[in-house]
Amino acid sequence: MKRMIASIAAALALSIASADAQSYPTRPVTVIVPFAAGGPTDIVARIVSDYLSKTLGQQFIVENVAGAGGTTGTTRLTQATPDGYTLMMGHMGTHGAAPALYPNLKYDPTKDFEPIGLVAGTPIIIVARKDFPAANLQEFIARAKNTGEKLSQAHAGVGSVSFTTCTLLTAQLGVKHHRVVAYRGTGPALNDMVGGQVDYMCDQIVNLVEQIKGNAIKAYAIATEKRSPALPDVPTTKEAGLPDYQVSAWNALFAPKGTPKDILAKLNETYVKALDDEATRKRLLDLGSVLPDKAGRTPEALATLVKSEVARWAPILKTTPAQ
Ligand code: MLT
Repeated sequence: MKRMIASIAAALALSIASADAQSYPTRPVTVIVPFAAGGPTDIVARIVSDYLSKTLGQQFIVENVAGAGGTTGTTRLTQATPDGYTLMMGHMGTHGAAPALYPNLKYDPTKDFEPIGLVAGTPIIIVARKDFPAANLQEFIARAKNTGEKLSQAHAGVGSVSFTTCTLLTAQLGVKHHRVVAYRGTGPALNDMVGGQVDYMCDQIVNLVEQIKGNAIKAYAIATEKRSPALPDVPTTKEAGLPDYQVSAWNALFAPKGTPKDILAKLNETYVKALDDEATRKRLLDLGSVLPDKAGRTPEALATLVKSEVARWAPILKTTPAQ
């Protein structure tokens, strides 16, 4: 009898959960972006949120919770009710590099989240203000290495993509004497670079295409094997004489740990459709994003990526103290 009651209860719970998932979402959903508005994470989050809103019939509203290189907004997600109504657009910094830089980080990227899916790869480009006196990457490197001058490097906080990828660059060049300027995201950092207030930055392509095409900033090299179709005139680091500087970032959707499985499945299914939707794909590709293939769109693939990124960045950043 007891066993029968238990199985009826379990079946009831299951049918309530799937009914919840069927009607989900019944109210607006918050998508946390852990950086300032107008930057690369925000741009990608808004493109995907537009599709989710249209397809699921409720607003997916981006909320910018910036600070501490993206770890403030990411911590906020771990404190949210796991009901599918709070999600986040994380990235290689928040879910890969942060543990190596924050000894007291309040979350474990490999355990405290439900991965939904990888949205986009975002190659890194070395850029400088438009009047920076270096015509190409080699001239830029010479100036960066010149201890007689102190270049200013913009980044989005310790642990951000711009911080970690420029840390890798300056370590490879053996440059220690630059001045770093931290922002709440590379959206505002880019505005200052266009205004000539900072010298250079390592940033994600999706933030840069328009400004590079409009000659508002200079692009020295893209840190990938091949040139980007979105910016065919920008040479690769290999072509520009710095072949070992190869680095890309990524953006991905996460939910808080414990979010119901059916809701996660619905979100994954819908985001996969977003990546196949012609208009959404075009928006992402025009900005230089690299879209994952079918195998790269599962929650399991994202969980594997997070684990490998945490392992990859730890030894690289071990010697870089949080500032
Ligand atoms: C942003 O959205 O501002 C960035 O992703 C910042 C970064 O990580 O460099």
